[in-house]
Amino acid sequence: MPPTPRVWQVCDACGHRLPDDDAAAQCPVCGGLLAIEHPAPVETVTTLRERFNHRCCMTSPGAMQSGVWRFAEVVHPTADQLVSYPEGNTPLLARDAVRRFAGCDSLLLKHEGMNPTGSFKDRGMTVGVTQAKRIGARAVACASTGNTSASLASYAALAGIPALVFVPVGQVALGKLTQTLAYGARTLLVQGDFDACLSLVREASARLGIYLLNSINPWRLEGQKTIVFELLQQLGWDPPEWIALPAGNLGNTAAFGKALREAHAWGLIPRLPRLLAVQASGAAPFATSFREDFAVRHRVKAETVATAIKIGDPASYERAVDAIRATNGVVTDVSDAEILEAKAAIDAAGAGCEPASAASVAGVRRLVREGAIASGDRVVAILTGHVLKDPGILQWYHQEAVPPSASANRPIEIAPSLAAVEQVLQNR
Ligand code: F0G
Repeated sequence: MPPTPRVWQVCDACGHRLPDDDAAAQCPVCGGLLAIEHPAPVETVTTLRERFNHRCCMTSPGAMQSGVWRFAEVVHPTADQLVSYPEGNTPLLARDAVRRFAGCDSLLLKHEGMNPTGSFKDRGMTVGVTQAKRIGARAVACASTGNTSASLASYAALAGIPALVFVPVGQVALGKLTQTLAYGARTLLVQGDFDACLSLVREASARLGIYLLNSINPWRLEGQKTIVFELLQQLGWDPPEWIALPAGNLGNTAAFGKALREAHAWGLIPRLPRLLAVQASGAAPFATSFREDFAVRHRVKAETVATAIKIGDPASYERAVDAIRATNGVVTDVSDAEILEAKAAIDAAGAGCEPASAASVAGVRRLVREGAIASGDRVVAILTGHVLKDPGILQWYHQEAVPPSASANRPIEIAPSLAAVEQVLQNR
């Protein structure tokens, strides 16, 4: 192994540099967001790829089996005592029914809902909580629409560090809130929306000296980069034309942009895929800015059935603009009806996902219809969360909505008799 290179936390806005063990949540000089700067790997591309591949099939237990720590050299080279479940190693699925729905023949679904707490957040959290432990944080905190809090609660429990979470009261899906409670985080139900929770936690963590683990934390993004590294590896480092993902607070869009730029600069991939960031129409400040060539940063009062991305003032806006520009990307928005229709198609194909995740497929369908994506383009859509995260929407969609949607699968109550079963089968 070559010597471990020096890694810095660098301010996006003013370039101020902090060592990699500094606990600051943002730049102490100008308040800008911090990013991790990796020196270019000293090894050849072939050596790096071989190392990543070798770790895929290791049989010994341990964190290097993780789909995040497999890429340690380009994520957190100086981390030692890893707080890992392990996570990642999520499948890349081909589902014909979803391909037909989206009108895209080579669509693949990267199912991040198959992470330990059921969302992609675990990839960022294993790195963020490892860093929290490394710097001796006395407690960790986040604001959340539910998945980040579930993930933080689990990884903080694993590390033995107390966790404090701020979530908007009445706006978090049942699966996520109950997970957060089960894993033991101190949970504050804030009388406000996600944007209010985020500004409150930023203030509180600065005041109380609690390590902030929202996606403005640079280590979180390093972990989330591995969604891209892993899917590129699964494709033999032959990049697709497009990568589509749901977009809320824009941490993931920023992480994807960083991963792609680095993979390209280091020679791991020969060309950049285009990013497609998809917002819900009721929470689409980024899509509105995109249509104006990012001349203005918009903020909205968010409203959507996809509660994970119900965010009106995304924190990683500038970074996400860079990601879209660097990849010749597109930002679009889809209605709640389009999201639920895409979700029904994904669910009925046996893959399943939570509502926000389906925005990626709904966005692909939209761009295929508009002619921006050709039906033969290779597209990977990210499913960010598990179908069981939001049982409430499933109950409403399948059992309660009046009139029912064409895809609703109403259960049928029957008397406990064979005649009743036969009656049902005849009616089919
Ligand atoms: N999909 C799911 C399932 C999410 O939980 C989130 C964000 C996103 C997509 C959007 O990612 O914010 O990086 O643009 N959830 C955060 C949370 C906000 O608190 O769990 P983003």
